[in-house]
Amino acid sequence: MSQRFIVTKEHRRFTEFADAVRRGQTIGLCFGPAGVGKTLSARRYAHYEKAHELLTYWGPRSDNDAKIYAALARSRTVFYTPSVLTTPRNLKDELNQAITRTNICIEQHLEPPGHDAHTRGWRHGKNYVELIIVDEAERLRPAALELLRDRYDRDDIALILIGMPGLEKQFSHYPQFYSRVGFAHQYRPLGQDELLFVLQRHWRSLGKSLDPEDFTDAQAIAAIARVTRGNFRLLERLFPQIQRVLRINELDTITNDVIEAAQSTLVIGVT
Ligand SMILES: Nc1ncnc2c1ncn2[C@@H]1O[C@H](COP(=O)(O)OP(=O)(O)OP(=O)(O)O)[C@@H](O)[C@H]1O
Ligand SMILES: [Mg+2]
Repeated sequence: MSQRFIVTKEHRRFTEFADAVRRGQTIGLCFGPAGVGKTLSARRYAHYEKAHELLTYWGPRSDNDAKIYAALARSRTVFYTPSVLTTPRNLKDELNQAITRTNICIEQHLEPPGHDAHTRGWRHGKNYVELIIVDEAERLRPAALELLRDRYDRDDIALILIGMPGLEKQFSHYPQFYSRVGFAHQYRPLGQDELLFVLQRHWRSLGKSLDPEDFTDAQAIAAIARVTRGNFRLLERLFPQIQRVLRINELDTITNDVIEAAQSTLVIGVT
């Protein structure tokens, strides 16, 4: 990812939602349109970027590991994405592995072994994981859903399922599951203020400054808001095109016309 993670209002709302689900040991559904930032928020919450490699490859210990243990001990969260054709058995095995490894990491942080211990083992078999976040949850079939409900009901592990709008309806057909849903959270696109904030960063990265009081800039902002509707992914895709249009035409200012030309090269059909 080229861009740095921006702590948006929606990200903060997601964090509060996840904390509430975790505290309440319940099930939360998070849904929102494609490209608004759901996956990135959830990964950030679970410290996935930091921990992913360690949890996946589980190689020999390295000096950096202590930081990852500490991060996982803070989040107590497992982030999981089922593959497209996942079976309930796969889901169970993969999740068990992720939970076991995360537990081992957390335990290493809470009760570090002597320095000559070079293996990772789960000494106390105690569960420290408090929350599982399942991304792309529409991939879950009824049996997988039932398995999740049953498994985490017994261990008091909270669960968040992330997907597109309509996810709530998909799950409403499974009353046993649905009746346990404690929170539904809608992940929204960037609001006007935040869009401006993000745009200011983009302008700066091009060595320019954006002034909403300036007529040309105000028009450019309005055009970008219209094209992207505050959708993060569209914004990230629009910017390289804007740069390209500027370069090809040897222009220096991002105007309305530049944005329209940039937009015309994108296939924008998502909402
Ligand atoms: N907080 C953020 N800071 C910086 N960039 C972001 C942020 N959130 C999202 N993005 C950008 O938007 C893109 C889409 O975000 P993300 O993949 O999280 O969307 P999503 O809601 O999970 O979409 P989908 O429903 O398609 O899975 C990211 O690849 C990234 O470029
Ligand atoms: Mg996603």
